[in-house]
Amino acid sequence: MSKRDFLTLLDCSLEELNAITRRGTELRGMTEQPQTLAGKSAVMMFQLNSTRTRVAFEAGLKQLGGHAVILSPADSQFGRGEPVEDMARVLSEMVDAVIIRTSSQALLEDFARAATIPVINAMSERYHPCQLLADVQTFEELRGPIEGRTVGFVGDGYNMCNSYINAARQWGFHLKIASPEGYRPDQELLKSTNNAELVETAQEAVADADLVVTDVWSSMGHEGEESRRLAAFEPFRVDEALLDGASPDVLFMHCLPAHRGEEVNDTVLDDPRSCVFREAGNRLHSQKALLEFLLT
Ligand code: CP
Repeated sequence: MSKRDFLTLLDCSLEELNAITRRGTELRGMTEQPQTLAGKSAVMMFQLNSTRTRVAFEAGLKQLGGHAVILSPADSQFGRGEPVEDMARVLSEMVDAVIIRTSSQALLEDFARAATIPVINAMSERYHPCQLLADVQTFEELRGPIEGRTVGFVGDGYNMCNSYINAARQWGFHLKIASPEGYRPDQELLKSTNNAELVETAQEAVADADLVVTDVWSSMGHEGEESRRLAAFEPFRVDEALLDGASPDVLFMHCLPAHRGEEVNDTVLDDPRSCVFREAGNRLHSQKALLEFLLT
């Protein structure tokens, strides 16, 4: 069987995505973890900082009996210009998967083309598909199927927003996006589905929403733009009053890390409608399920 990659949510069918998120929930409920990855190893290469994604993959591999090899750009040939294709072919001889966080989706795609083992996108400037597995898993654990629901995305039309557009296309929910002018998501991507639309204000995005989502205003890669972004994003902060305009049983998610006082106020992460810490915890279980899906 040919190898599978996970570079975007579109690399899986809806049935496969549902199998992964449901398995994530199953693994979450098990006190003793199955040793389904015994004898398997994966290289993790992170060109950008990470807490959740990295810990979830490393701890997840260990819990399922596998092994993580951490390759930092600083002390590997990755940081000294070895061609991506050569690295992909070498690592394909040695391990069972490669997990990469990079500011270049193109690098991921080049790596995956040359590799004969699964390559996983641990976040790029374009997409963060692993986060969406955890988000959908969390929503469905708390509220049932996300299909047909309404999701309001408030904030930067960047990699998280792009992944929500793909998720709306795959899972069949209605996505309303409110972003300031100049920070809206890619038009071509928006046109790829009838399930996502742009709206003008944060209030419109959250109206009747079953799930409200935001992300930081200055992601990694936007260093130096912070003050300009603060001014543009000011009307797009999520607080309790904004959530009051959503469905009465709305959930609030944020991929974290959050900047209190910017995209969220000081208290909304602790509001009863917020499930951000369960969402973060589900990174572990959904990524274990993803590894099982790709490696076994
Ligand atoms: N949400 C997320 O990807 O967190 P990290 O950057 O800490 O991995």
